[in-house]
Amino acid sequence: MKLTLSLFLTASLLASESVSAFAFTPSSQKSSSSSLFVAQDIEAEIKVNQEKKNNKNCVFSDATLPNAAQDEEQFQKLRTDPQPHSKPKSFATQCASLYQPNPGGARGVATPVYFGSTFTLDNAGHGARLHEKRESPYTDADGFVYSRWGSPTNEAAALQIAALEGVDDKARGLGKCLVFNSGMSAITSSLMAVLRAGDHVVAPYTVYGGTHEFLTEFCANWGIEVTFVDGAGANGPENYRQALRDNTKVVYAETPANPTMRLTDLEGVAQVVTERYGSSVECDIPGTSPHDRKRPFVMVDGTFATPYHQRVLDIPGVDVSIHSATKYLGGHSDILAGSVTSRSEPFLHGCSKVQKIVTVPLNPMDSFLLARGMKTLDVRMQRHGENAIKVAQMLNEHPMVAETYYPGLDSHPDRAMADRIYRSGCDDEDEDVAKTYGGMISFVVIGEGEEALRRARNVCENLRVINLAVSLGGVESLCEHPASMTHTMIPREQRLAGGLKDGLIRVSIGLEKAKDLVDDLKNALDKCDEDGCVI
Ligand SMILES: Cc1ncc(COP(=O)(O)O)c(C=O)c1O
Repeated sequence: MKLTLSLFLTASLLASESVSAFAFTPSSQKSSSSSLFVAQDIEAEIKVNQEKKNNKNCVFSDATLPNAAQDEEQFQKLRTDPQPHSKPKSFATQCASLYQPNPGGARGVATPVYFGSTFTLDNAGHGARLHEKRESPYTDADGFVYSRWGSPTNEAAALQIAALEGVDDKARGLGKCLVFNSGMSAITSSLMAVLRAGDHVVAPYTVYGGTHEFLTEFCANWGIEVTFVDGAGANGPENYRQALRDNTKVVYAETPANPTMRLTDLEGVAQVVTERYGSSVECDIPGTSPHDRKRPFVMVDGTFATPYHQRVLDIPGVDVSIHSATKYLGGHSDILAGSVTSRSEPFLHGCSKVQKIVTVPLNPMDSFLLARGMKTLDVRMQRHGENAIKVAQMLNEHPMVAETYYPGLDSHPDRAMADRIYRSGCDDEDEDVAKTYGGMISFVVIGEGEEALRRARNVCENLRVINLAVSLGGVESLCEHPASMTHTMIPREQRLAGGLKDGLIRVSIGLEKAKDLVDDLKNALDKCDEDGCVI
């Protein structure tokens, strides 16, 4: 009887397009589909199959699975209370089988790491259901199906970022987060989710080099036009407004900008977009394609600030929050990761489709490291900020430094905006939280052109505590020269138009003792014109 039922299911399944990839085997060979479990009690299994066949959640139509009786309660019981399985007796099967830890293992306080590309299914209907549902950023209580579609440790990290971004809160509006294998993966997935030939993007001059390359090379090749504007400061919204077109599909911002540390008035930018196209709430129709939305998606790369300082999705009209989680969220320079969070269902649908098909979710081990890193985000960000202001003050007064860009300095053109925007980990009810302004500082050494370039190089090479390395946001301090490293792919004229001067040095201030960092930079600056240094 069991064999007959299984063969019947096989025939039905193969007739159904959505599950045609399944090789359904008789229950007596059940271990061959997953090699995980071996049935102990054949009678019990037949009963289970019968119960599952009758399950009302099963997505088979009556034509493929007749007599689908309804028994939700029983089905849920089977899901949560699976039938007992015997320990395999043969050595090869023992080798190939899964020995689940005691359920008490689920009570560990650390994020469990679940490796594995695939997941056992309750029954064929369960598999079909998971394949048929509209893509969601991470799986729901119905479980996981295949790790390219999401997996438990990835989901743990995603849920945590969703919470940090404030989209797990009904009062603010619910949303979801997707976690990718790099910041660039997060950025390109967001763009690919909504853009197609004939569309137009407005982006700032000063964006991360990789983002610039994607916009100018890939997007251009795909027939997508990009207008770059000066998005910083008080005039930013007006500059964005003037660049908007009927076919604008993405309004992109990076704030604070890498590496100029200029801020974008996101409220102002979102407002000019709303004035022209209507609000996100009006334009977002669940169940539709992101391509069909009339209003451009306002996307923000807030990597430098993190949700500790900037919860951009709380700003009406901002649709997508992106982070390179390689930086502060991970915090230890030991992973590449990226996150995309949104409340827009059409966007999330499109983006998770790109993730499933092209860019892949973050792997379990790195998801664990990301989740572990985020546990200390609050204290790390506070210390980064406390250290950075001391370094910025020294730089601001050093004779070899022409300009210092740090939002916490009074001389910063967007200081007032920073005071308004930067949360410093503050919760709604908190008062008198000491303000900090993040760990990223840029400064420009004196001189022009070649001379500035050489002087900047001398400073970088004379540092002894701060590491000469690209990237940022880790516990250790890093220093780099954007004009010759991270932003070299942006044409010089455009770099200069966006405020990225040849002599600009970017420092990611870590968690070392502030005095060591101040002394190190001061020493390198003092020495940069000395004998032995090439000027
Ligand atoms: C602001 C910003 N966004 C995105 C990225 C890209 O992130 P990833 O290197 O994780 O791909 C970077 C990298 O430095 C960055 O600084």
